[in-house]
Amino acid sequence: MSDDIGPVLVTGGTGTLGRRVVPKLLERGREVRVLSRRAHAADRSAQSVPMSQTGVPVPQWATGDLTTGKGLDAAVAGVSCIVHCATTGSGKDIDATRALIEAARRAGGRPHLVYVSIVGVDLVPLFYYRAKLAAEKTIEDCGLPWSILRTTQFHDLLARITTVQRRSPVTLYPAGMSAQPIEVDEVAQRLVELASGEPAGRVADMGGPEVHTMREFALLTLRAHGMRRPLLPVRLPGRAARAYRAGHHTTPGHAVGVRTYSEYLAAVTSGRAR
Ligand SMILES: NC(=O)c1ccc[n+]([C@@H]2O[C@H](COP(=O)([O-])OP(=O)(O)OC[C@H]3O[C@@H](n4cnc5c(N)ncnc54)[C@H](OP(=O)(O)O)[C@@H]3O)[C@@H](O)[C@H]2O)c1
Repeated sequence: MSDDIGPVLVTGGTGTLGRRVVPKLLERGREVRVLSRRAHAADRSAQSVPMSQTGVPVPQWATGDLTTGKGLDAAVAGVSCIVHCATTGSGKDIDATRALIEAARRAGGRPHLVYVSIVGVDLVPLFYYRAKLAAEKTIEDCGLPWSILRTTQFHDLLARITTVQRRSPVTLYPAGMSAQPIEVDEVAQRLVELASGEPAGRVADMGGPEVHTMREFALLTLRAHGMRRPLLPVRLPGRAARAYRAGHHTTPGHAVGVRTYSEYLAAVTSGRAR
């Protein structure tokens, strides 16, 4: 795919993943438009190839909401690719994805849709995962060119499970479960490669370099933050928990991630996090 065509729209470009995608696209010389529900002070949408005062390219901003549909027509106008990283964190992701596709269709072009999904969305019966699976299906059937990447959990999500309990005298962890977290920057890099190439359909899943038990992740996190707490296993009930215990959210056959969880923690605690 040529790099000198229309801008790339990044939905969720202010989120954990999307804010890593945006600078990587700019570094490749792509014109980038970021969709956000909030108006951003540095709105330079009037400029076709915006530059900061230091001469470094910066993104355009489009204010819009995938849930209400507000601002979407302007956001998708003229784009050649949409990297769809926005998430409502709920079942609304399916309607949000439909609204995005409908706006893209109204605009009349054929933008390449690049969607990030989660390993196990088809096997772990969570409401959120069902919405992501339905969003995948909607993209596959929408008639626009598409690429879909499923990844495992990002390192920071794993860390939060333990750090949110910092005021508790004990640290709880889900018994019998493992995880395979991945560096978010590596996922962002892969999405940029997909956005820069031909539509690839469902590509190989992307998992972190190591599978460890949740107990091990909790221990590593406590140690990295200099915290000492007794660890307490909690057996979670329900079908989704059973699917997690079966490891359906991991992909050991695709352990392509490079940065380990320990390396991530070392970078965070020394202030070097990417
Ligand atoms: N986190 C993980 O471990 C993980 C693992 C695998 C896959 N994923 C997938 O990766 C994607 C990004 O996740 P993330 O963790 O980066 O999410 P995040 O940090 O929670 O960011 C969510 C983003 O969505 C935008 N957003 C939310 N509601 C919106 C709406 N109604 N209209 C427009 N934009 C909206 C927010 O933008 P504003 O607030 O600026 O509007 C924000 O940029 C998601 O699809 C998620 O399922 C995540």
